[in-house]
Amino acid sequence: MMKKLILSLSVSFAAALAAPAASAAGGGAVMDFSADYSNTASMQRGARNFMNYCAACHGLKYLRYSSIEKHLEIPRELIESELMFSTDNFNGHIETAMPPESAEWFGQQPPDLSLTARSRGADWIYSFLNTFYVDPEATTGYNNLQLKGAAMPHVLAELQGIVVKSKDEEAGDGHGGGHGGNHGLKLVQDGALSPEEYEAFTADLTNFLAFAAEPGKADRIALGWNVMFYLFLLFGLTYLLKREFWRDVH
Ligand code: HEC
Repeated sequence: MMKKLILSLSVSFAAALAAPAASAAGGGAVMDFSADYSNTASMQRGARNFMNYCAACHGLKYLRYSSIEKHLEIPRELIESELMFSTDNFNGHIETAMPPESAEWFGQQPPDLSLTARSRGADWIYSFLNTFYVDPEATTGYNNLQLKGAAMPHVLAELQGIVVKSKDEEAGDGHGGGHGGNHGLKLVQDGALSPEEYEAFTADLTNFLAFAAEPGKADRIALGWNVMFYLFLLFGLTYLLKREFWRDVH
């Protein structure tokens, strides 16, 4: 009886532990990446980078500035001075200033990115930001491995440098063998950041977008561990109690 109970308990713990890993796997991303919900510093940097490089075109209409204060521990004054446009409301959502005509400018309206980490996956976003390459035939001058014919200009090109797709690797297995499996992409001119710094920069952005899609997730994960700890403790106590009760019977 006791053995069965222990067995079924450990099975359910294992299932609970395995569940987040399975859901993070996502499908169809060129590169591996999983969001780090416990890395507040990374998400803070990502918030700053997003406001500097992405917010001109993309909104986060389901995220409030006040949630950034609450969950990412950035003081309100800093958010107001560094992250918000002066016309924005602290308790309001992060709307884009892009007018609907922008669809004509880019050929595509820049989509709202609030839920993209959930619909596409964090690995998809990370891959998208890391696989722009020069393509003279594309309108923007750049193409993307993750989103073929992407209408988004490579706004981080200055930071990353110039990346081309090398012909010989194209014919090969697609794994360039270089840093992190570069899929035939090659840096031919350095940008303001080194390749490692650029990867870290895009990881911060991706972590922030993962946060934006589920602002309460880090809190839920912490709560989950507390609940598990409590259940373990309770289990131990009830077991001792059971032994105490049955001691005289045996
Ligand atoms: C100049 C405007 C502009 C800027 C700045 C910009 N984007 Fe985009 N972005 C677009 C457009 C347009 C699309 C639509 C691309 C398409 O569907 O072909 C897009 C698409 C995307 C997508 C794909 C969304 C989806 O689900 O298809 C992601 C992710 C993204 N952008 C992230 C970013 C990030 C992160 C930044 C800041 C580093 C950024 N963008 C800066 C215009 C922009």
